[in-house]
Amino acid sequence: MPDETTSSEIVVEPAPCPAWLPDGALAAVGRRRVAVAGPPDDEVLVTVRREAERATSAHGGAVVDPDDSPDILLEASSVLDSSSNGRNEDQVSTLDVGSGFRLVRDGGRVTVAAATATALLHGWFHVVRLGEAAFAGPDADERHAPAFALRVLDHWDNVDVHPVMGQVERGYSGGSIFYDAGRVREDLSRVTTYARLLAATGIDRVCINNVNVHAREARLLTDDLPEVARVAGALRPYGVRTHLAVSFAAPMTLGGLPTSDPLDDGVRAWWRAAADRVWATIPDFGGFVVKADSEGQPGPFAYGRDHADGANLLAEAVAPHGGVVHWRAFVYDHTQDWRDRSTDRARAAYDHFAPLDGRFAENVVVQVKHGPMDFQTREPVSPVLAAMPGSRLALELQVTQEYTGQQRHACYLAPWWSENLGFRPWGHGDDDGVAVRDLVAPGGIAAVSNVGDDRFWTGHPLAQANLYAFGRLAWDPTLDPAAILDEWIGLTFAGPEGAVEPRVREVLHAVLDDSWRTYESYTAPLGVGFMVRPGHHYGPDVDGYEYTPWGTYHFADRDGIGVDRTRATGTGFTGQYPAPWRDVYEDVATCPDELLLFFHHVPYTHVLHSGVTVVQHVYDTHFAGVDRVREAIAAWESLDGRVPSDVDARVRERLAEQLRSAVEWRDQLNTYFFRKSGIPDAHGRTIF
Ligand code: GCU
Repeated sequence: MPDETTSSEIVVEPAPCPAWLPDGALAAVGRRRVAVAGPPDDEVLVTVRREAERATSAHGGAVVDPDDSPDILLEASSVLDSSSNGRNEDQVSTLDVGSGFRLVRDGGRVTVAAATATALLHGWFHVVRLGEAAFAGPDADERHAPAFALRVLDHWDNVDVHPVMGQVERGYSGGSIFYDAGRVREDLSRVTTYARLLAATGIDRVCINNVNVHAREARLLTDDLPEVARVAGALRPYGVRTHLAVSFAAPMTLGGLPTSDPLDDGVRAWWRAAADRVWATIPDFGGFVVKADSEGQPGPFAYGRDHADGANLLAEAVAPHGGVVHWRAFVYDHTQDWRDRSTDRARAAYDHFAPLDGRFAENVVVQVKHGPMDFQTREPVSPVLAAMPGSRLALELQVTQEYTGQQRHACYLAPWWSENLGFRPWGHGDDDGVAVRDLVAPGGIAAVSNVGDDRFWTGHPLAQANLYAFGRLAWDPTLDPAAILDEWIGLTFAGPEGAVEPRVREVLHAVLDDSWRTYESYTAPLGVGFMVRPGHHYGPDVDGYEYTPWGTYHFADRDGIGVDRTRATGTGFTGQYPAPWRDVYEDVATCPDELLLFFHHVPYTHVLHSGVTVVQHVYDTHFAGVDRVREAIAAWESLDGRVPSDVDARVRERLAEQLRSAVEWRDQLNTYFFRKSGIPDAHGRTIF
């Protein structure tokens, strides 16, 4: 908090916290002699040099000439193989060397080589992450390349403060780093610092405005292009490219045309001209993100056209510039009648998109939320991901914790994302089956950012781990979430010499490793979802959405709860999955416990695979969840001055709120289930 001042005093905001790049994290590289080779006028290579200077000046090393036997040689060149002057195709063919790097360790010296300066920068941060281990291991020759060519963070930032959603929709970290009250910020230095943090995880694309494109934000595409160019200029030094969310109605609202019909020649010409202007202003611009015919946003349906028509219209406009269109599959009826039992929101994305497979242009990426509903704490993997083999699909995750504690609750989401990425829609086949991470390789991965102008970037300092983990999983989706967390701890809590106190490491694992499951245990049970307060989505409200138009119901009555999505007696949603899951989910006997209420309506007395009844499970998990939050608090308090005092104070404040909120969840949920079912807790604990 800024100090109290009189109005004439200048308030100097504290610098944002260094997150996972405190100077201590640079100790191992900073102690060494570092050389950088490559085209001197490349903007990102200038950054690489600056990074080397920053690290070495903080830790006593030096930046030296490449011929001066450096300990670390960073080389931007297309020569990636030492055995010849050209690339050895055999060795590199399985890697996307264009966006990856080669790391050679020879007698304790490290050479990083890459074809582009951005890839070299990623290689530099790889060495930073490894610390002393980069130099200590046996001689090695490794190639590292991202699994996904497209690794995007979507900001739901508004230029104008929205009367309901604020400056950042679903933002829990203060204001926007890009905009302040109706304009792009004058000082964008923080955006460059953000790009540095992203580069250290491997993220290289950012969409800078909300998918709900309001009137003011729509103008980023036209009148405000010079301002967008300034933002792009602030991201570029760290190799991060800029994307914009655009409104499908822009030809009408900005261009004055009578229609936005995607098959209209005037509309096509308008989009082509708009794209030409964007790339003329920002030559390395990435592309457009579109939310169409969803939650009130305009789209092709108004003209009797479909999503492929809409997406291809924009694809045609950006194609000459090498641009991509991220077209979101989050489309459903948000004006449903709750009495209508035939409509199932979970079915919607598949029903709209699967029939369009094969019709999307090559530069369209269909961006699919990981689950069929909406970023819930637990839901099955979206069946759309297995239904569009002829399209480029991207997986969409939510780093901002809209439904997972809003950065007031500690909730490390990497285990959840990892489960989704590793899900095998066709089960374990002969070769272990195709996983979601393979299906989305052509379109990559995108996630809603959790960053704002908060001193800690993410409100809850421990929510930084989610942003870090998203970047790492976007680079390598097979990484172990606990290992990623360990990396994040190692960097973030590095002391001046680069080491982390073992107790700090231990406590952070204790607080975060299972925090997603802890959150799940005291909130909506067994995959039923929601039960949150409508509008802001924080805290419990079991029936909050039950009689609303949003399509998110649990159907609790005195006998039971859950949504029948079977083919036999329900909405038929299970039929959207290939075998074996269509059958596994269909049968109450094989459906996994954690998704039971997503797929089935069962009596409270239904016995789970775990051996307890549904209602007893609710009581047990809700009591246990609160206990686990208490344990996390005790663990954190035992740190006793081992972390910076401002971090400590903020985390304590958040943990106190988490406990208050978890108790509220426990008591409301337990009481609701007790009153509905009349079945007492087998252990006689207090229920109201
Ligand atoms: C959720 C969220 C909205 C957001 C939407 C989306 O429904 O609550 O704020 O606009 O997702 O993903 O488009």
